[in-house]
Amino acid sequence: MKVSYPATVIAMLCLLLLTNVNSFATRRTKAFSPFPLSGAGLTTVGKTLVSLPYQSTNNENAKWVHSSDEAVAEAYAVPKKIVEKPSISLNSVKMYLLPTAQKDGSKSEYPLVISPKSDASQAFLTQFLERNRQWVDAALLSFGAVLFRGFDIDTVEKIETSIRSFEPNLNNSYRGTSPRNAQEGSRYIFSAAEVPSTYPIAQHLEMSFLPSPPKRLFFGALKAPKVVGGETSLADFRRVYRDIPVKLRNKLDAKKLRYTRTHQRTGSRFTSDVASMQSWEDVFGTSDKTEVEQMARDENMPVRWEGRNHDTFVSEFVSEPFQLHPETKEAVWFNHVQVFHWTSFPAELLLAFLRTKEWRFLARSIAVGLQSMLLYGMLGKKMALNVTFGDGTPISLLEMHQIRSAIRRNMVFNRWQQGDLIMIDNFSTSHGRQPTYDKGRKVVVAWSDPLEKRNEMVAENA
Ligand SMILES: *[C@@H]1O[C@H](CO)[C@@H](O)[C@H](O)[C@H]1NC(C)=O
Ligand SMILES: *[C@@H]1O[C@H](CO)[C@@H](O)[C@H](O)[C@H]1NC(C)=O
Ligand SMILES: *[C@@H]1O[C@H](CO)[C@@H](O)[C@H](O)[C@H]1NC(C)=O
Repeated sequence: MKVSYPATVIAMLCLLLLTNVNSFATRRTKAFSPFPLSGAGLTTVGKTLVSLPYQSTNNENAKWVHSSDEAVAEAYAVPKKIVEKPSISLNSVKMYLLPTAQKDGSKSEYPLVISPKSDASQAFLTQFLERNRQWVDAALLSFGAVLFRGFDIDTVEKIETSIRSFEPNLNNSYRGTSPRNAQEGSRYIFSAAEVPSTYPIAQHLEMSFLPSPPKRLFFGALKAPKVVGGETSLADFRRVYRDIPVKLRNKLDAKKLRYTRTHQRTGSRFTSDVASMQSWEDVFGTSDKTEVEQMARDENMPVRWEGRNHDTFVSEFVSEPFQLHPETKEAVWFNHVQVFHWTSFPAELLLAFLRTKEWRFLARSIAVGLQSMLLYGMLGKKMALNVTFGDGTPISLLEMHQIRSAIRRNMVFNRWQQGDLIMIDNFSTSHGRQPTYDKGRKVVVAWSDPLEKRNEMVAENA
């Protein structure tokens, strides 16, 4: 095979650059209806919100201030049948949307931000959440994320109490791939990410073989970084679905997606691919192949052994690219293409550079980009986690570009402030982490019980 290496490398870098720059340029302000729920009596609320007068400055740090709290409260007044007699009413807080860093001055469409008007105590927030749970539920379903900002909740205990006043059924069994430790003084609060903070984590709803993943996630900021970077970025995957070009959507729908997960035996080779640093012994906690097969079977994970000694673990399965939201029935972009594709890591690093202007991200993006180009683009090396179309054909650079653009267009960078608490509907809104070299970031996470248990409550309200 004859390939012009320099030309391909340059083409690759240009593409990566284009991918990122372009997605910033194409950010649009869309007309939106924050409450697309019909039947809940909330449909008209969105239109009112859109017309509310907002003021902003060009300063990225400045808050959007709405000029009339009363107008907002009125816009959000919920029919009596939904909230019976709230003694701490919705009028006792401020609600607004965050500014975005976009040049066109648009504001984000989510999360909905709720701040204290006068009482910022944790006791107030707890009561507010208890009294207005159903209203917050509806807002969460609609906006995908709700941010509580300005309350006095900057300790693990206060965060836990606040979350539990809204979501009594927290769950502390983590069934993901990497161990997390509970924070001292709490049963349900965990450190948000085990990976060093200088590594980006792409937008995701998290890979899962579980039949019933947690419905909600909660992030709290114990300490906020002092510079741009380190945000827990959000992207509403319902909007992403709508923004993926129809042609690509149809192709995905017809072909589906194929994930291949490969794990070597411990100590078998050197690699720079983060995911493949884990051997299958690490993943399953045993070196007995029969046990591994049994555990994989229990989790509905197909297994085969490859390699000369039949000791490379390979699990391959085809999966749907989209899902309907379990409650609103909206179509959701529901896959991991943007996480597992071999172009993703350099692209995420480049995005970090463009946002933070931190040269170390640029340097790493170029280094990782060149390396990936060589290993995966040209030498055909396999990544530990690989994704293709269902028939095994690769997802092209152009298609990845379209996917990344749709995601970037819908990304909201929530610049943490100490004491922030954000609730996320894990079935509609993805989260990711923007990398930072700032050491001052401390973000914790909690999650709700699996979905089935929540269905009863929804039925009750209906
Ligand atoms: C968390 O969810 C798992 C899986 O449904 C369940 O087995 C476990 O009992 C739950 N734990 C708590 C503390 O609710
Ligand atoms: C969020 O939900 C996804 C599926 O929507 C699931 O795979 C994942 O485990 C959940 N995330 C967490 C941290 O519980
Ligand atoms: C992913 O899988 C496809 C199909 O098996 C293969 O051609 C490709 O080289 C793999 N890519 C990576 C990066 O592992």
